[in-house]
Amino acid sequence: MNLFNIIYSGMNQYLELAEEMVKKAITEKGKDASVKFPSTAYALPVIYAVTGEKITTVGELEKALELAKGYIQEGKLLQNALDAGTASAMFAEIIEAVKYTLEENPYPEPLQGHLTDAQIRAFGVPLVTQDIPGVAVIIGKCKDSATAAAIVKEYQEKGLLTFMVGKVIDQCIEEGVKMGIDLRVISLGYEIESVIHVVSVAIRASLIFGAVAPGDFQAHKQYIKDRVMAFVNVFDDWDDKIIAAGAAAIELGLPAVTETFINEVPTLLLHQPDNDKVIQTSLEVRNIKIKVTKIDAPVGVSSAFEGERIRKNDMYAEFGGQKTKAWELVRMKDISEVEDHKIEVIGPDIDTADKIPYNMPFAVVVDVAGRSMETDFEPVLERRLHYFMNYIEGVMHIGQRNIAWIRIGKEAFEKGFRLKHIGEVIYAKMRDDFDSVVDKCQITIYTDADMVAKLEKEVALPRYATRDERLASLLDENVDTFYSCALCQSFAPSHVCIVTPERLGLCGAVSWLDAKATKELDPTGAVQPVPKTGVEDERLGIWSEVSKAVETSSQGAVSRVSLYSILEDPMTSCGCFECICGIVPEANGVVIVNREFGDVTPVGMTFGELASMTGGGVQTPGFMGHGRHFIGSKKFMSAEGGLARIVWMPKELKEDVRDRLNIAAKELYNIDNFADMICDETISTESEGLLEFLEEKGHPALSLDPIM
Ligand code: SF4
Ligand code: NI
Ligand code: NI
Repeated sequence: MNLFNIIYSGMNQYLELAEEMVKKAITEKGKDASVKFPSTAYALPVIYAVTGEKITTVGELEKALELAKGYIQEGKLLQNALDAGTASAMFAEIIEAVKYTLEENPYPEPLQGHLTDAQIRAFGVPLVTQDIPGVAVIIGKCKDSATAAAIVKEYQEKGLLTFMVGKVIDQCIEEGVKMGIDLRVISLGYEIESVIHVVSVAIRASLIFGAVAPGDFQAHKQYIKDRVMAFVNVFDDWDDKIIAAGAAAIELGLPAVTETFINEVPTLLLHQPDNDKVIQTSLEVRNIKIKVTKIDAPVGVSSAFEGERIRKNDMYAEFGGQKTKAWELVRMKDISEVEDHKIEVIGPDIDTADKIPYNMPFAVVVDVAGRSMETDFEPVLERRLHYFMNYIEGVMHIGQRNIAWIRIGKEAFEKGFRLKHIGEVIYAKMRDDFDSVVDKCQITIYTDADMVAKLEKEVALPRYATRDERLASLLDENVDTFYSCALCQSFAPSHVCIVTPERLGLCGAVSWLDAKATKELDPTGAVQPVPKTGVEDERLGIWSEVSKAVETSSQGAVSRVSLYSILEDPMTSCGCFECICGIVPEANGVVIVNREFGDVTPVGMTFGELASMTGGGVQTPGFMGHGRHFIGSKKFMSAEGGLARIVWMPKELKEDVRDRLNIAAKELYNIDNFADMICDETISTESEGLLEFLEEKGHPALSLDPIM
């Protein structure tokens, strides 16, 4: 059988199964029953993107079948075969949608199945920073489980996001590969249809970050081909359905590398029988470049391990966490005072443990020097320590400054991990990530209780205090330069953030100081200074130079931007915002929802639904993506009355921002404990209950001018 016929045969198998499933859904649930994947605002995303139709009920699935059939023409042209791939993808999505309709949880742990919008949005920042350099989709079964684990682990250590379909999942479980969405190794499902859930991720990236119109399939294909650095690896023997899925991948511009020979199409379909070479072949064909840093440590060091947890029972040693002191400090020194790559441990190492888990005091002092280094960069570098330590396989880091909390796992200890390796990792990453400001770096780790206590008092605390003073003095009024950040343009082509001292980037990862340091590191990069000149409207926060910078950076898509208003020319959003706020007209204010909150809000929408109202670099008055830290800023929608407009937040978010919010509200409005006037889900998620609560508390929003 030739390749085309194999594809058509596979497609017909999907078709048959999809028709069967739809029939079953009609019999069991009736045509009016709703059809949806969990927590997405994009209906059945693939069908929505391809056709522009939102399928929401069992009855409409019949229409979806017809739409997919429209792609069938079993001819001799290459496009016929590729269209069969598209049809297969649509059938597979129908099959999966029915699974979610008939069953409460079709993908129990450790399987993932569908990913929510919020999960996809959370990948935004690591993708644009190329912290996640690519996406691997592994289908099938490797020749043995050791091979499977080795391949998956190597992708993980390179930072890639790996999706698995088929027996390879069990092989990795057998070998104890650390898996989960936080560890970038995701088990989609055992059946080939489940591969649609990664196609759905790529398609939703295009809808969410790219703001590509539903129905403009051509544009979606272009977006995915250009911007989603994904590829497919097929192991073991293929069957017709796998090949038809492969045709869908190729139609989306995602190359496939197969272990068993199928056929070869340059740059799109490659045969690589040698398991040792599959990773290299895959990275080359997608042109993914991995930055390798040689680090002297006996365990893996990769951003993929950032989300790894060390549980109590797996713990060998622990620093901080209220049991001992633990703090960290980056300080700038004169170039003559730093000995590059000197790593010293003063006090006992973890192998002196007399009981497990071993609790010991800990301090790490990182001395850096360089011609372009500034004291302003100290906190920027210091905050990276959290990530650097977390990147170590078998080490968990929480907190910062003198509330640091670090755990080292038993497994890492057994592999030979010792305290000096923390120094090695910090050294390598500092030199690597901050190469143009850090010329020399020296690390001292203290575990002697007296030294840790004494140096905290004499060195660390005064340094933290000086910095806090500097931060408090950093107001928009006191600087003459803002920064534009266009990092997210690799996914949201016309989005630009303007970062000011009182308004950080909407991803939450870029403060004004970060922006300043980033500019120093990469003078011609994505972050550029913007002079704060040509004031047009102080209340709205409009400066002509700022608007001009946005216009240039957005290639003309947006020409006027206000920094302090959500109604008039608000800043655009990309898709990776930590929080979204939206207007509740009846309460004369706004709700704010963070990405982690999954339930509905008093505006009748979830985070995902609110988030889908904006994004892709488009200005949407009334909706605005922003960072967590922006709540508590006196510039938060100050044009519309400021923080007093906040009427509802999820409880977790409210607690997180409570202190800053209360201080700001006291200064702005002389209100005590303002956070207590803000409603949350434990009080009400309905508009009526919200209003009652606000009235009872005398919330200030009720007496402000009408918001619209
Ligand atoms: Fe993206 Fe804005 Fe964050 Fe820059 S500051 S990474 S553009 S969200
Ligand atoms: Ni973004
Ligand atoms: Ni904060």
